[in-house]
Amino acid sequence: MGLVSATEMLNKARKEGYAVGQFNINNLEWIKAVLTAAEEKKSPIILGVSEGAGKYMSGYHTVVSMVKGVMQTMNTTIPVAIHLDHGSYDGAIACIEAGFSSVMFDGSHYDIEENVKKTREIVKIAHAKGISVEAEVGSIGGEEDGVTGAGEVADPLECKRIADLGIDMLAAGIGNIHGQYPENWQGLNMAVLKEIGETTNEIPLVLHGGTGIPNAMVKEAIGYGVSKINVNTECQLVFAAAVRKYIEAGKDLTGKGFDPRKLLKPGVDAIIDVVKEKMDLFGSTNQA
Ligand code: 13P
Repeated sequence: MGLVSATEMLNKARKEGYAVGQFNINNLEWIKAVLTAAEEKKSPIILGVSEGAGKYMSGYHTVVSMVKGVMQTMNTTIPVAIHLDHGSYDGAIACIEAGFSSVMFDGSHYDIEENVKKTREIVKIAHAKGISVEAEVGSIGGEEDGVTGAGEVADPLECKRIADLGIDMLAAGIGNIHGQYPENWQGLNMAVLKEIGETTNEIPLVLHGGTGIPNAMVKEAIGYGVSKINVNTECQLVFAAAVRKYIEAGKDLTGKGFDPRKLLKPGVDAIIDVVKEKMDLFGSTNQA
């Protein structure tokens, strides 16, 4: 199967009570790792690309070409979406033009009227090309790739206004944070999540900040309509730890330094393991 928008895979997940993982990609190795895990698990997959990662990979066109190339070589059979993560208005337009199959327009830092106006415009432009749209209400806490949110809990009525614009998935702040959770974290606000789920007419809900949420809480959130869960930090942590361990073990010192392909392999393997574990937890295994 080729690139697809996230709409169909997420509507199915919402209806059948599981969640599809969005795993952020940063380079060729991460693309290969995430696609390998998804293919092995026969799970649909969303590849998240932040604006910073897009720049790092030499622009959105390069990202699309790399992903398509890897999919072709791997003979990918599962549904794959390339999705802009926390996009600005201009970033979303650029990704739509570059061939992404899904975009997030994060207007949560605007007042609600401006968020509604800009989200409506993005929906119109994206849907004309069959591209899915994620919008956000009530910012996600913490910092990710230069995008910082104060971590407000979303207002369910504002969520309904945004959901009614015809978006395909809704991210709502419910006490979730990018990066590591502090020790005194109060947990996800399930009462608000439940209310948002009930007022937004079965729209797939998105849980950002997927690293470090206890498994039971993840399952409970899925029960209230969370159909897409974003994970980035956990992959970064295991990748760095595995590569560090490899360097410290001092392999491949042949006077030429480390073989760059061997150097990164333990990191790739570590990401594959994390992604597979998450697919089992989220329930997306064998849903492709
Ligand atoms: P984590 O940093 O908790 O993995 O969250 C990633 C995320 O939400 C990307 O949008």
